[in-house]
Amino acid sequence: MYTTEFEKQKKLVSTEDPEKLAAFEARVAADEFIEPKDWMPEAYRRTLTRQISQHAHSEIVGMLPEGNWISRAPSLRRKAILLAKVQDEAGHGLYLYSAAETLGTSRQEMIEALHSGKAKYSTIFNYPTLTWADIGAVGWLVDGAAIMNQVPLQRTSYGPYARAMVRVCKEESFHQRQGYEIMMVMCAGTADQKRMAQDALNRWWWPSLMMFGPSDAESVNSAQSAQWRIKLFSNDELRQRMVDQTVPQAEFLGLTVPDPDLKFNTDTGHYEFGAIDWSEFTNVLKGNGPCNKERLKTRVKAWDDGAWFREALVAYADKKAARAAA
Ligand SMILES: [Fe+2]
Ligand SMILES: [Fe+2]
Repeated sequence: MYTTEFEKQKKLVSTEDPEKLAAFEARVAADEFIEPKDWMPEAYRRTLTRQISQHAHSEIVGMLPEGNWISRAPSLRRKAILLAKVQDEAGHGLYLYSAAETLGTSRQEMIEALHSGKAKYSTIFNYPTLTWADIGAVGWLVDGAAIMNQVPLQRTSYGPYARAMVRVCKEESFHQRQGYEIMMVMCAGTADQKRMAQDALNRWWWPSLMMFGPSDAESVNSAQSAQWRIKLFSNDELRQRMVDQTVPQAEFLGLTVPDPDLKFNTDTGHYEFGAIDWSEFTNVLKGNGPCNKERLKTRVKAWDDGAWFREALVAYADKKAARAAA
């Protein structure tokens, strides 16, 4: 499948006007931003539309595992913080849908693609949040991985995407810290609380590393995306950074990373880690994760339940326009 996708993209690029393509690539190479009305190769438009809409879907679906704990947060303070965080994620989804729309696909089309199962979102959100410690682990690891991915995207070649990332990254860094702080409190608490924190780390560690996507050798379109500055670092590079940053944080908490092969290499200055079970990743991606069906069902229901509100907005706008015209 990967080769076919790659071949398809190459073929698409070969049909572009060579002069326009060269001018476009020179601008990208000079670190200029490409804006919505500028000429761009069709393959660039398609890759970005897929990437940004997938990112938007992940923000929106990502609200669900955490929304699960808003009504059960252990204190008013925790509830207020979690509410603010989940609301931020809704905002991220909205900026990103808007950025993707500038490439010519409507929000309606993107949402339909999500609801029909055609569009993907991050596999991480198909895992359940079983205890309060999971909210800590999600903030620490999942938002942590998101930052690792998104900080470089502030310099990606497409202007609207790069600019959306500036605010998103500031908010993600608050999310990561609030998660880590939950872990700190639980690890300094009772033996049961510390056990919960360890259990959450055990369940979230590997799925978080999978968030960076398949190994470089397996990754679709990597070289082209790197040349067009859609992708600034490879999946494996970002994953390595995540491990290097996170292992000392786990040690500080007094927790054990669930990887018997993990060891620090004093020569390279990096942690070496065990093999990732990619069959699990593929299985979740195919729709067989613990919560895929539930997540999609909840999204579709939220959309259907909101129909009256969307209709009311349109009716109000029509009424205002009619009054202005009169
Ligand atoms: Fe986010
Ligand atoms: Fe976040």
